[in-house]
Amino acid sequence: MTIPYRPFGRTGVQVSALALGAMNLGSPGNPSHEDGVGIVHRALDAGINIVDTADVYSQGESEVIVGKALVGRRDDVFVATKFHGRMGDDVNRFGNSRRWIARAVEASLTRLRTDHIDLYQVHRPEEDTDFDETLGALSDLAHQGKIRYIGTSTFPASRIVEGQWIAEKRNRERVVAEQPPYSILARGIEAEVLPVAQRYGLAVIPWSPLAGGWLTGRYRFGGPQPQSSRADRQPGRFDVDSADNADKLAAVEALALLAEEAGLTLIELALGFVLAHPAVTSPIIGPRTLAQLEQQLGAASTPLPPDVLDAIDKIVPPGTTLSARDTGYVPPALQDASLRRRPGS
Ligand SMILES: NC(=O)c1ccc[n+]([C@@H]2O[C@H](COP(=O)([O-])OP(=O)(O)OC[C@H]3O[C@@H](n4cnc5c(N)ncnc54)[C@H](OP(=O)(O)O)[C@@H]3O)[C@@H](O)[C@H]2O)c1
Repeated sequence: MTIPYRPFGRTGVQVSALALGAMNLGSPGNPSHEDGVGIVHRALDAGINIVDTADVYSQGESEVIVGKALVGRRDDVFVATKFHGRMGDDVNRFGNSRRWIARAVEASLTRLRTDHIDLYQVHRPEEDTDFDETLGALSDLAHQGKIRYIGTSTFPASRIVEGQWIAEKRNRERVVAEQPPYSILARGIEAEVLPVAQRYGLAVIPWSPLAGGWLTGRYRFGGPQPQSSRADRQPGRFDVDSADNADKLAAVEALALLAEEAGLTLIELALGFVLAHPAVTSPIIGPRTLAQLEQQLGAASTPLPPDVLDAIDKIVPPGTTLSARDTGYVPPALQDASLRRRPGS
């Protein structure tokens, strides 16, 4: 089993076709630093060379574990982290402002035990902050050698385009990568985000390729509520008896049958689907344990045949999202409310 490498957008950097996500490293995911270091080392030994974390994951603990794991191995790993999420009670300890970015990057560099970040990502767009303010601050960090590349996460297509235009018009460093939610159950980005990413030659590293666990096969129709750290933390989201989840459970039943007929595990089917989109560079896998990692490593060398991809389209049509709550996008109901908002309301 060898993991292939793919070009990271148009940067010239080669990254493994699976990226290791570190969101589960640290409490409340897996509190053991020893386990976390072991997961990172096993991934690197298997050929993974891109690791994704964020300052907010376990409020910095995930970056600390990644930093520990990379001692002596830093040079050959493409380290991606993020800023934007709240990192304290003070009114300014979050966001996309130059002021916060200057502080957030120093804290991430210290926790990661490194002098540079390969990909520094804006975790979410910020309505009240001029995107040029953010790109200007990030461009300065690139010129100072503190970061190599700029990325975004969960940006709508219009914001991705805006970022490219700002870079061109105001001579800023360009955003080279987008990190969107993408899985068989969350295909919304196929309509606009992925075509736009392709048009601008962006790397695409999707998050939650197993829809947070739905596509592992552990949540089944009529089955018992399985033991899961996520289900404990977000009970409604993974409730197998909830009417809100019925369409996901029905899709999972059909997908499990399809996987069995194709001689694949459901995990291989799910990761193979994300890997197959021509706009995708590397899905970010999010194992909480070493055993979960082992079950995902084989997917990068198990491409899905066209007839299996066609059969997936029949179960969940292109562009459809059954799992909106898992995507980080604002649900349409909230969008409507914000459209109705008037000054002062
Ligand atoms: N940019 C963003 O906004 C954003 C958002 C989310 C994630 N991410 C990134 O994407 C990475 C992956 O996201 P994700 O963790 O949501 O990915 P995911 O692969 O969709 O879900 C991971 C979860 O699936 C379950 N799982 C994984 N392997 C399993 C196996 N072999 N058997 C049974 N269950 C298994 C685990 O649930 P249990 O823990 O319940 O066992 C695990 O926590 C993160 O680490 C992070 O780097 C980014």
